[in-house]
Amino acid sequence: MDSFALVIFGITSNLAQIKLIPALYDMAEKGLLPDGMTIIGTARKEMSPSEFKEYFKKVLNTENIHHQHAIKEEVFNDLCKRLHFVNGNLDDPKFYEKLKNYLNELSGQGHPCDNRIYYLATYPDLYHHIFENLQKFGLNTQDEGYVRLMIEKPIGNDLNSAKKLNQLLLKYFSEDQLYRLDHYLGKESVQNINILKSTNAGFWKIMNNKKVDEIEVVVSEDMGVGNRITYYNDAGAIRDMIQNHLLQVLSLVLMEKPKNYSSKEIHNEKIKILKKLELSNMDEYLIGQYKSYLNEAKKFNVKNSKSETYAKIILNCKNKRWDGTKLVLISGKKLPKRYGRIIIKFKNPRNRVVINLQPRQDITAKLDGKSIRNMKYCIECGFKPNSPDAYESLFKDVINNDKSLFVTSEEVYLSWKLVDKIEKLRNKIKFVYYSDNKNP
Ligand SMILES: NC(=O)c1ccc[n+]([C@@H]2O[C@H](COP(=O)([O-])OP(=O)(O)OC[C@H]3O[C@@H](n4cnc5c(N)ncnc54)[C@H](OP(=O)(O)O)[C@@H]3O)[C@@H](O)[C@H]2O)c1
Repeated sequence: MDSFALVIFGITSNLAQIKLIPALYDMAEKGLLPDGMTIIGTARKEMSPSEFKEYFKKVLNTENIHHQHAIKEEVFNDLCKRLHFVNGNLDDPKFYEKLKNYLNELSGQGHPCDNRIYYLATYPDLYHHIFENLQKFGLNTQDEGYVRLMIEKPIGNDLNSAKKLNQLLLKYFSEDQLYRLDHYLGKESVQNINILKSTNAGFWKIMNNKKVDEIEVVVSEDMGVGNRITYYNDAGAIRDMIQNHLLQVLSLVLMEKPKNYSSKEIHNEKIKILKKLELSNMDEYLIGQYKSYLNEAKKFNVKNSKSETYAKIILNCKNKRWDGTKLVLISGKKLPKRYGRIIIKFKNPRNRVVINLQPRQDITAKLDGKSIRNMKYCIECGFKPNSPDAYESLFKDVINNDKSLFVTSEEVYLSWKLVDKIEKLRNKIKFVYYSDNKNP
């Protein structure tokens, strides 16, 4: 594999600490980091090479619900050989000049950096500075190698802003260079939904409106919003979770089996579903806020907020296979338990399929009252504390130039279109304050 540099803008971010750094460590432990891979982190403060490595060590040894296993010294030392840090302000052109010089230096020292993957683990407000300056210093050109850009949610906060962000991206990059992340798609059990359809004819045969009463996608968290309140308060559960993760997972469950599992075919099938989703049973919609939210918010100068920390919405998919099956999406914080689950409720009670998304990642199924044990659905059947994290899969796919688990601009637009409709009707949706760690 060709050598390349992964440049993470925002290596000190919460995202880098809870997800990216642990995923890179785990990849190192499993021998999944390609030989020629160099990792460059950026942030404002200065850090010497040894301070940067200490920072990585501290992050890896900090308690983290997403990453709960011991750090092996030899793996860490091996990872350290790849690590570099460049400090500077992302809105300052001098930083990019320094970055360019650093990349050239590394290339001269036998760590070629002509192929580059940029990861935006920083604020969307800074994106235009990043893109402009990458262009100004020739860091987004693909003359000598490839350039790929990984971009996190949120892609905008409504349809209009999503379109604007996409236009900005396309001013500096071509669509094939863009990897829009939805880390739920990187979860093993989500990836296995398609395998389940393809390898179990009996299952797919009963996946339709005649046999299925309801499909529920639930992401329940027991924690509150914490330090991300400034962002979250503007977003709320519908924009933060339903617009992306829940709609993506739902469209994967509902989509027809693609002709083949190429990225293009998967996206085409998901888009067909997203186009057919419509709001339904609006009298059952519910939004709410946990009772201690406003107290937490005060510390961040957020007052009188009615942002929802819980949302339940119902959809219908107006196509031949699904019209009439109730599609329920629920997401909330400070609920009794942390779990993510897709529950397929069949009219025949002898059939039941549950796809666990987190913390367990597995699928349990009963068809005609019989448990299906030898379903070929899962690489590591059953939950293991060290089963691959979604970010590992996503890093691997970007390195291998595979876009099937990433989101296209059209998918983003269709999801926003639906969410914008919900937002317009917000005043008509019942709002409740619910006790901490209780269901509304
Ligand atoms: N955190 C999550 O769980 C999560 C989940 C999904 C998506 N995301 C997305 O991931 C991105 C990062 O979010 P976050 O919550 O992790 O952010 P965060 O903790 O606030 O971190 C922001 C990062 O950007 C850097 N930064 C900020 N201003 C800068 C500047 N002017 N120049 C250089 N660096 C600057 C910070 O570095 P210094 O302050 O150290 O310089 C820090 O590394 C956002 O797009 C967010 O929407 C986050």
